[in-house]
Amino acid sequence: MKKPNIYISKPVPPEVLSYLEEHASCRMWDGTGTASRERLLSELESAEGLLMPGGGLIDRELLDRAPNLRAVSSISVGYNHFDLDAMSERGVIGTHTPSVLDDTVADLVLALMLSAARRIPELDAFVKRGEWQRGKGLAEDANFGSDVHHRTLGVIGMGRIGEAIAQRAVLGFGMKLHYYNRSRKPEAEERYGAVYSSLEEVLSVSDFVVMMTPLTPETNRMIRKEHFALMKPSAFFINASRGQTVDEEALVEALQTGVIRGAGLDVYDPEPPRGDHPLLKLPNVVTLPHIGSATHATRFDMAMLAARNLIGALQGDQQVHIVPELRHLAEGKPE
Ligand code: 8YV
Repeated sequence: MKKPNIYISKPVPPEVLSYLEEHASCRMWDGTGTASRERLLSELESAEGLLMPGGGLIDRELLDRAPNLRAVSSISVGYNHFDLDAMSERGVIGTHTPSVLDDTVADLVLALMLSAARRIPELDAFVKRGEWQRGKGLAEDANFGSDVHHRTLGVIGMGRIGEAIAQRAVLGFGMKLHYYNRSRKPEAEERYGAVYSSLEEVLSVSDFVVMMTPLTPETNRMIRKEHFALMKPSAFFINASRGQTVDEEALVEALQTGVIRGAGLDVYDPEPPRGDHPLLKLPNVVTLPHIGSATHATRFDMAMLAARNLIGALQGDQQVHIVPELRHLAEGKPE
């Protein structure tokens, strides 16, 4: 059987490449980072499959330049960069990498909560600047922070990662848990005592509000000025989902005016944020460069899963992680 042509727009680990080469004839971007949009478009003329990192747009312009494309595999759980209507019309299957990153992202969310609440980056820099001197007139509570243990956590979007966060927060830190989600999660309620709540209730009762929804037309700019106004002035806002789920100007205003105490951010709109972005100037904001899943082990697992997804999709295997909105393509069903 003729091996399908695939293009890999970002270098993958050797084990992943050799797996792909067993099943496909591969061309891979061998430069730093990810292939440019122009390079990608030029490479797709003959490709049947594309393996790519999260974030690169799969839109009509790209699909017009990829007449043979049958499957796109994203090395990410999020797939808001897929134009699902266009892919469905062109019969192009899209896959993603759920589950393999849940624990790694949940760890990062707890790190953001602890860092923001205990002011870790700020005080780390204070010590490194040599400014910590015993009895040098600092107010007793100058370095004080806020507790995480036994406080109330509010999770917006109780999917797999949301549940991994709940596990750590409730079983590890004795936190109380409220959650807002499209559907109820009886297991999370059973296991972690999670209280199913309205969005307004989650915002008003929580000491830490964690945004963990996928980016969809419904969740775009979901958290705005009126939502921050419901939060406690002592509360922290954590976002490890997508920057576009929040009105960033409203977040900046809430932080600058003391509507909320602080924030821990791993995602922005756009990414990376401009160098002079006000979020980067605020001492009560911890800012990370979208590293939720960025550990060697997890990124390897994501790349290998994405490789298996691509080959499986090209071979008509319906068991691979096809995004729900495009599953009908694999089942040969109409939209
Ligand atoms: C990806 C992520 O690494 O999986 C996701 O949805 O956001 C990250 O794990 C990121 O998309 C890569 O750019």
